[in-house]
Amino acid sequence: MAREQWGTKLGFMLAAMGSAVGLGNIWRFSFVAGNNGGGAFLLLYLVFVFLIGIPLLLAEVSIGRKAKSDVIGSYQKLAPGTPWFLTGFFGVFSAFLILSFYAVVAGWSLYYLFHYVTGDFFQAPAEGGYEGAFGGFITQEWQPLFWSALFMTMTIVIVFSGVKKGIETANKVFMPLLALLLLALAGVSLSLDGSMEGLSFLFQPDWSALTQPSIYVQALGQAFFSLSLGMGALLTYGSYLSDDKRLPGAAVGIGLMDTFFAVISGIVIFPAVFAFNIDPSSGPPLVFITLPSIFEQMPLGGIAGLLFFFALSLAALSSAISILEVPTAYFMRLFRWSRTKASVIVGAIMFFLGISVSLGFGIWSGITPIGERNILDSMDYIASNILLPLGGLSMALFVGWYFTKATALKAVDFGDNVIGNVWYGLVKYLLPVMIIIIFISSVL
Ligand code: TRP
Repeated sequence: MAREQWGTKLGFMLAAMGSAVGLGNIWRFSFVAGNNGGGAFLLLYLVFVFLIGIPLLLAEVSIGRKAKSDVIGSYQKLAPGTPWFLTGFFGVFSAFLILSFYAVVAGWSLYYLFHYVTGDFFQAPAEGGYEGAFGGFITQEWQPLFWSALFMTMTIVIVFSGVKKGIETANKVFMPLLALLLLALAGVSLSLDGSMEGLSFLFQPDWSALTQPSIYVQALGQAFFSLSLGMGALLTYGSYLSDDKRLPGAAVGIGLMDTFFAVISGIVIFPAVFAFNIDPSSGPPLVFITLPSIFEQMPLGGIAGLLFFFALSLAALSSAISILEVPTAYFMRLFRWSRTKASVIVGAIMFFLGISVSLGFGIWSGITPIGERNILDSMDYIASNILLPLGGLSMALFVGWYFTKATALKAVDFGDNVIGNVWYGLVKYLLPVMIIIIFISSVL
C-alpha cells in the first residue's frame, strides 16, 4: 500500500499549525509563565522559540520528509546499522506520557463546553464561584474520566479515518475563530479594573527571575511543548509531504502562528488574573477559573464562553491527533497493524495511563512522584523538560553532524548562502550547546 500524503502544502501547514496551537498555548503557557515570574519568562521563551525552536522545527520536518517514515523508522532508514534510531524511542515514549495527561485537561475543556451549552456556567455558582466549581469537578473520580474518554475517542476516530479531509477543513475554520475570540477577549480583559498590573507582570520583566536556573529549563520545555517539537510529531507529519514542497516558509509560519496564540492568551489571562485577585502561580487550574470570570463580566459572555471552549477543545483535538499519530505510525509499520487497530490500541493505553493523572487531583492527590509535583505535573516535567529536549538534541545532532553540510542544506531547501549557513550553524553548534547547558544546569 502506498504511503499516505497530504493533499496540498496548505493542508500540511494547517495540520502542523493545528498540532502546534493547542492547550500548550493557553493552558500550559499561562501557568508556566505565572509560576516563573511572567515577563522574564516570556522573553526567554521568545528567544528560545526563534533561536532554537524554528531552526529545529525545520530540521525535524526535513528528516521526516527525506525518510518518509515514522520517528524510529526514519533514523533506521537514513542511518542504517547505527544506534541513532534508539533516540526515536524518546519520541514514542513522550507521546504516551503527553497524551495521557493532555486528554485529561482536554476533557476539562469539553466539560466546560458542555456547561456553557446548557447555560450552567453563564454565571458563577453562588457557592464557591468558578474556583469551587472547578475544584469540585476535578476531584471527582468518574466525571473527569468520562470527559477524558470522550476526548480520547474523538482523537482516535480522527486518526483512524486517515486525518486529512476532516482535520484540514476543521482547522481552516476554527483557527481563525479561535484567534478572533482571543482578540475580543483580550479587549475585555484589558478593560477590567486592575488590568495594568497584569500587563506589567507579563511585559515588564523582573530580571531577578533570570537568576533562577529552573526558569531556563521551563522556558525551553515550553518552547518545545508549544511548537510540538522533539517528539517526532512534526517529523511524522513531514513524512507525508512530497519532496517538491518547500519547507522554510512553512516552518516560520508555524512558529509565528504559535507564538501569536501564546502572547495573545497571556494578554487575555494575566490582566484577569490580577483583576480577580487570583494567584498567578496557582498552576494548571489557572485558566479554568480566570476565563469564566472574564466571560461573566462581558455582555453575551455566555456565548463567548461557549465559542471559546468549543475552539479550545478543537485546538486540543488537532494537537492530540498529532501526538497519537507518532506511536500509531510506528506500530503500523512495526507490527503491520492497520491504522484502526494501531490507533485504538495506543489510544486506549494512553487513556488508562491518564486515569492516574485524573485521580491525581482527587483521591490520589497525596501521590507526588517528583518533588512536590502531582501526577500530571510529574509526567509533564519528564516529557516536556527532559524527553522533548533530548529528542530535539538528537535531531539537531543528526542533521548537523550525521548529514554532510550539503545534504543538510538540501534537506531543508536552503542554498549555500547566508541564510542557509546561519541555519546550519545554529543547528550544528548553538542549538546542541544550548540544550546541553540548560539541561545540565537543571540537573545540578
Ligand atoms: N503543541 C501542542 C500544544 O501546544 C501539544 C502537542 C502536539 C505536542 N503535538 C506535540 C507537544 C508534540 C509536544 C510534542 O498544545
